[in-house]
Amino acid sequence: MKVERICKIVHKTQMGGAVFMVLEAGDLVRASYRNPGQFVHIRCGDALLLRRPISVASCQEDWPNDLVTIVFEVRGAGTAWLAERKLGETLDVLGLLGNGFPMRREGRYLLVGGGIGVPPLWGCAQYTSGRSTAILGFRSKEKAILLDLFREDCAKTLIATDDGSLGYHGFVDALVRQKLEQDNGYDAVLACGPKPMLKSVAKAAKEFGVPCKVSMEERMGCGVGACLVCACDMKDGSRKHVCKDGPVFDAEEVDWDA
Ligand SMILES: Cc1cc2nc3c(=O)[nH]c(=O)nc-3n(C[C@H](O)[C@H](O)[C@H](O)COP(=O)(O)OP(=O)(O)OC[C@H]3O[C@@H](n4cnc5c(N)ncnc54)[C@H](O)[C@@H]3O)c2cc1C
Ligand code: FES
Repeated sequence: MKVERICKIVHKTQMGGAVFMVLEAGDLVRASYRNPGQFVHIRCGDALLLRRPISVASCQEDWPNDLVTIVFEVRGAGTAWLAERKLGETLDVLGLLGNGFPMRREGRYLLVGGGIGVPPLWGCAQYTSGRSTAILGFRSKEKAILLDLFREDCAKTLIATDDGSLGYHGFVDALVRQKLEQDNGYDAVLACGPKPMLKSVAKAAKEFGVPCKVSMEERMGCGVGACLVCACDMKDGSRKHVCKDGPVFDAEEVDWDA
């Protein structure tokens, strides 16, 4: 069922080069929430035909308006238009779309995010009420986002930066290996970020026998399974829709060499 709502921007701040935005969303969450890690598809002005997909960083049911938080970086015309919207303005939002991460509230997960892939994992951290551990990677200290919120909602939050300006100097998969060496009792590793990062995190999780779910990013057209723009290659030779079948897949399903 397609759920489209006009959402009002009620909070907007800049952080680490990204925009943090809270939307009053009518009954959007009540009507379409499945799991943490879903996304919204936002119309970005009249000039752009295609909506732009942005992950739900956090959401909550409320009355009369549910709240949806998104965090995004400006990449091109659509996200630039979005970043220019002011408090009180409205957005045409389709959502909540996709499957999200399969999670148990009483579970304990290793949440691994890279760059602008970090936001949806905050919702996963909130979902498990402080039991999960986060490993977050950024290019540099200046690019780091949401750290205080993860620290509040996780048992432990570890940071890695490519240039060593904050936390561990290197990539997140090294920290994933260190953590799983100490403790491989997590329900699963849940990861979101660039594809090379997801591939190496999936490899590390497999080495330690821990299930791994990854949130894949592909360019999107319709966002609801009606075109084929978002196709992602699977190991068995099939192609799945990131918008409808994903964006979260079992890491074992994905053809990492495609
Ligand atoms: C399921 C999903 C969740 C996402 N969540 C977030 C999020 O929480 N925060 C966020 O900042 N971004 C997120 N993205 C990426 C975001 O959708 C793109 O940055 C945005 O669509 C770019 O639109 P634009 O008009 O600004 O740029 P365009 O002019 O369309 O493109 C600018 C550049 O971005 C690249 N690009 C466009 N779409 C994507 C994409 N889907 N993946 C990777 N690169 C892309 C293009 O190749 C181009 O180089 C998500 C994407 C998907 C598929
Ligand atoms: S974006 Fe059209 S099928 Fe996924």
